[in-house]
Amino acid sequence: MEEIHQDVEYVMLTAKQIAKRIKAVAKQLDKLYQGRKPVVVCILKGSVVFFSDLIRQMKTPLTIDFMAVSSYGNGTKSTGELTVKKDLSTDIQGRDVLIVEDIIDSGNTLYKLKKLLNARLPNSVNIVTLLDKPERREVPMEPEYTCFTIEDEFVVGYGLDYAEEYRNLPYVGVLKRSVYE
Ligand code: IMP
Ligand code: MG
Repeated sequence: MEEIHQDVEYVMLTAKQIAKRIKAVAKQLDKLYQGRKPVVVCILKGSVVFFSDLIRQMKTPLTIDFMAVSSYGNGTKSTGELTVKKDLSTDIQGRDVLIVEDIIDSGNTLYKLKKLLNARLPNSVNIVTLLDKPERREVPMEPEYTCFTIEDEFVVGYGLDYAEEYRNLPYVGVLKRSVYE
């Protein structure tokens, strides 16, 4: 049994479940990018744990880059505004871009990010997300690859935060409502 943080209501996905699923998704991505060299983009900060596990399961030659965007304040609701806090250092024109995201909620962040990156004329842009909450979608945004589709619950851990905390938990857990209400 994993020890559970006192602010976590229950563990939704164990470290073991996550690792198993990432291995399978990495295999699919290797197939997709066969003969190409994608630039795999980590969306900071939430994706950093997922990203580092995912790229180490991928066998295809790749390069990495980082981007920091936000459409969230310190709360649990999307404001819909996209701010680029840190841009790519790679010229993506003609490249195959794989965006690695932690969770898709309203879809606002990725909808705008995809638009922004497409304007730089990459060969392709695909999205892989660890988690997807399709019930919450406000804009049409379908990731090409989803590790886990989850219910509308606010989750933390495995990179995901609430007010910058809990990113280092090795599992994905549902945050107790008392913490943010
Ligand atoms: P969207 O623009 O509403 O799709 O928001 C995506 C971003 O919101 C993610 O990258 C997360 O940073 C944050 N987010 C959405 N839901 C959760 C959650 O349940 N836990 C932690 N962060 C979340
Ligand atoms: Mg995020």
